[in-house]
Amino acid sequence: MSFILAIDQGTTSSRAILFDAAMQVVGIAQQEFRQHFPRDGWVEHDAEEIWTTTLAVCRRVLADHAVAANQLAGIGITNQRETTVIWDRQTGRPIHNAIVWQDRRTAALCAGLLRDGLEPVVEAQTGLRLDPYFSGTKVKWLLDTIEGARESAAAGALAFGTIDSFLIWRLTGGQVHATDATNAARTLLFDIHRGVWSEEICRALDVPAALLPEVKDSAADFGLTDPAMLGAAVPILGVAGDQQAATIGQACFAPGMMKSTYGTGCFALLNTGTHPVASSHRMLTTIAYQLDGRRTYALEGSIFIAGAAVQWLRDGLGIIDSAAQSGVLAQRADPSQHVTLVPAFTGLGAPYWVPECRGAVFGLTRNSGPAEFARAALDSVAFQTRDLWEAMQADWCQAHGHSPDVVLRVDGGMSASDYTMQRLSDILGAPVDRPVMQETTALGAAWLAGMRAGLYPGMEEFAAGWALDRQFAPGLPEPDRREAYDRWKRAVAAAMAV
Ligand code: G3P
Repeated sequence: MSFILAIDQGTTSSRAILFDAAMQVVGIAQQEFRQHFPRDGWVEHDAEEIWTTTLAVCRRVLADHAVAANQLAGIGITNQRETTVIWDRQTGRPIHNAIVWQDRRTAALCAGLLRDGLEPVVEAQTGLRLDPYFSGTKVKWLLDTIEGARESAAAGALAFGTIDSFLIWRLTGGQVHATDATNAARTLLFDIHRGVWSEEICRALDVPAALLPEVKDSAADFGLTDPAMLGAAVPILGVAGDQQAATIGQACFAPGMMKSTYGTGCFALLNTGTHPVASSHRMLTTIAYQLDGRRTYALEGSIFIAGAAVQWLRDGLGIIDSAAQSGVLAQRADPSQHVTLVPAFTGLGAPYWVPECRGAVFGLTRNSGPAEFARAALDSVAFQTRDLWEAMQADWCQAHGHSPDVVLRVDGGMSASDYTMQRLSDILGAPVDRPVMQETTALGAAWLAGMRAGLYPGMEEFAAGWALDRQFAPGLPEPDRREAYDRWKRAVAAAMAV
C-alpha cells in the first residue's frame, strides 16, 4: 500500500491526483463539469455531476497507472469551499443543485441579518462576515425555499454538507456524515474558537443541529470507501478546503508564513499560529488546519479576479492567444505610460468588499495599446496582493506589537509567469518564493492522508522537503514602488466612486 489518492474537487473541474510513497505525482485525471447560471448572480453545480466526475477521475487515474485500490494507503479530499449541498439521508439524493460559493442570491438575506445586528456575533464566533459567499445563508435559503425541506430537516431526514462532506457520504455509501474543521470554518455556522457548531448562529439562521455533519481533524478517520466505488475499501484519512490544503502543501506551518494561490481569483492565507487574530482591516479569520485536536489559525484575503484578468485579455479583448503570451506582451509596454486597470469585473473582494463596484482603466494616452493593457492586467494582480499583504501585516502588528517576518510562497497557474512574479516582488518590496511542486493543493490533501496512514513523514520532515524553484527578489527602488502603489490606491478609490 504505497500510494495516496488525492481528490481535488474544484469550482470548474474534478481532479484525481495519484501520489507515490515519495510524495511525487504519478498521474492526474481531470474532468470539467457544467456551470449553471439560472439567474443574474446565481451560480449552481449539479451535485450528481460533481459526484460522477469525481468518481470517474478517481477510477481513471488508477486505471491509467495500473494501480489497484488495495494499493492505496488512503484518500485525501480537498475541495472548493463554502459550496452548499443538502441531500436526503435515505436516498442520498440532493434536494436541489449545489449553491456555489460565488452565488449572490442571499445578498438581501445577509443585509436583513446585518440590520438585525447579527454581524458582531458572526464576526466574533466565525471570523467571517455576513456575506453570501459563505454557506450559512445558502442553507437557510434552501430550507426556506424547497417545499417540505424544513420539516424533513427538523425530523433528521436531511443532511447538509460542503462538497467534502457530500463526497465522503457518497464514497462511504452513506455511512459517514462528516467534515473537517477547515471546511466547517467556512459555513458561517461554526465557532472557530470553541471548535463546535454555534448554537446561537444556527438558531438565528433556523438551521437545525440534525442537519449538520460531525466535525473532525483535518487528518482523521473519515470512514472506508464502499468497495463498489473503487474496487476495494480504502480509508479516507485527510480532508481540507482547497485554500487550506494549499497552505499545508506549501508547508506554511509557522506563524508569519503566507501562501498566495493564483487561479481565477487569488486567495492568500497568513498562518497566525494557535491564536486567532481578529481583523480590523477587513480580512477573514479562519482555521488553517486542525491536527490532533489543535487548531492553527490564519488570516485570509480573497481577490475575485487574478487569472481572470488574463482570460479577459484573451477572450474579452482578444489581444493574446494564450495566457503565456501576457508576460511577453507586458514586457513590451512603454515604461513612460502609467495605464492602471482596476479589474472589479465582479465587484471588489478583500479588503474593499464592494460588490457593486465595476472595472475601470485609468491613464490612457493615444499611445496606449495591447502591451500597456497586458502590463496593467498583470500589475493589478500584484497591487491587489499588496492590498492583502498590507491589511494582514497591519492586523498582525495590532495583535503582536511588531510586524511579521513574512515569507510568501506562491502557487496556482499564474505563478508560472516569471514576469508576474517579479512584478509581485517589486510591488510588495519583498521576496516571493515559488516551489518546485506545482500541485500544492493536492499535495496538502495527500500529505494529510499519507501522514495519518503512516506512509508520509510528520510535519517537520514534510516541511523540510519543500523545495524552491525560484526566489524573486524586489528590484524596484522604494520611491517608484510607493508611487506605483499610490497610483493604484487612487485608481481603486476612483473606481469605487463611479
Ligand atoms: O473559497 C472558494 C475557493 O475554495 C474556490 O477555490 O480553486 O475551486 O476556485 P477554486
